Amino acid sequence: MKIVVAGATGALGRQVVDAVRGAGHEPVPISRGSGVDLVTGKGLVDVLRGASAVIDASSRSTTSARVSTRFFGTVTRNLLAAERAAGVPHHVAISIVGARELDASYYAGKVAQEDIVQAHAGGWSLIRTTQFHEFAVQLLGRGRVGPFQVVPSMRSQPVAASEVARELVAIASGEPRGLEPDLAGPREEDVADLVRRYLAATSRTRAVIEVPLPGGWGSGMRDGTLLPGPGTRQGRQTFDEWLSRRTG
Ligand SMILES: NC(=O)c1ccc[n+]([C@@H]2O[C@H](COP(=O)([O-])OP(=O)(O)OC[C@H]3O[C@@H](n4cnc5c(N)ncnc54)[C@H](OP(=O)(O)O)[C@@H]3O)[C@@H](O)[C@H]2O)c1
Repeated sequence: MKIVVAGATGALGRQVVDAVRGAGHEPVPISRGSGVDLVTGKGLVDVLRGASAVIDASSRSTTSARVSTRFFGTVTRNLLAAERAAGVPHHVAISIVGARELDASYYAGKVAQEDIVQAHAGGWSLIRTTQFHEFAVQLLGRGRVGPFQVVPSMRSQPVAASEVARELVAIASGEPRGLEPDLAGPREEDVADLVRRYLAATSRTRAVIEVPLPGGWGSGMRDGTLLPGPGTRQGRQTFDEWLSRRTG
């Protein structure tokens, strides 16, 4: 089975490519480096021909609701149109637990993506997960101010991207399922503390400053809006297990 992975170089996409191979299928990785820009959509139909499913793991890092909505809206429409033209029967998308309740900043783009996918006349599956363990590493690239690391105050129950990747591939290998039950990690964590633990495990001395972000999305990040509801399915790997695997 040929499975296209959009956003194949990202934190999730890399693991999805591995999981596709691990499941005995053939991955077709898409990123700008591979010559396909999902925003222009140029050349997309040709890449998608013969595929059984597309897993969309693309993203754009931004705190602007306008930029995020434009990115996820454009990419999702381009992918769905190209899938229709190439005869791909199954689109698999990932969103974030609580994004619909926050509906601001980056999360507004996820709501736009969810709406477009759920209105799609062809086959689709959509799963919402919590933040990945890798989110701690992604934050390091965004909030460095001199000797300090600025991290938003945020409650999260992070999940291993490798487990999410395997779930996405299991979904992509079967019939379209529509909205799937959410998937979360095994334990609630304080995000600033995750960043501190990651820095310590990688022998970096950088003071972490926890900052409450303004507005509704800032308070939503702090008040548990992004946490899973009771009874949500949980992955197995804890952040500390992930960290010791990653750092040896
Ligand atoms: N990170 C989390 O904690 C988390 C939690 C839950 C859900 N999610 C969702 O999981 C998905 C993946 O997130 P991520 O954090 O793994 O993303 P990421 O690490 O930022 O990777 C983004 C990917 O998108 C690709 N991309 C960006 N713009 C592109 C363009 N114009 N054309 C082609 N490819 C483009 C990038 O490739 P190039 O730059 O190489 O082109 C990269 O492969 C997103 O839908 C996100 O909302 C993330």
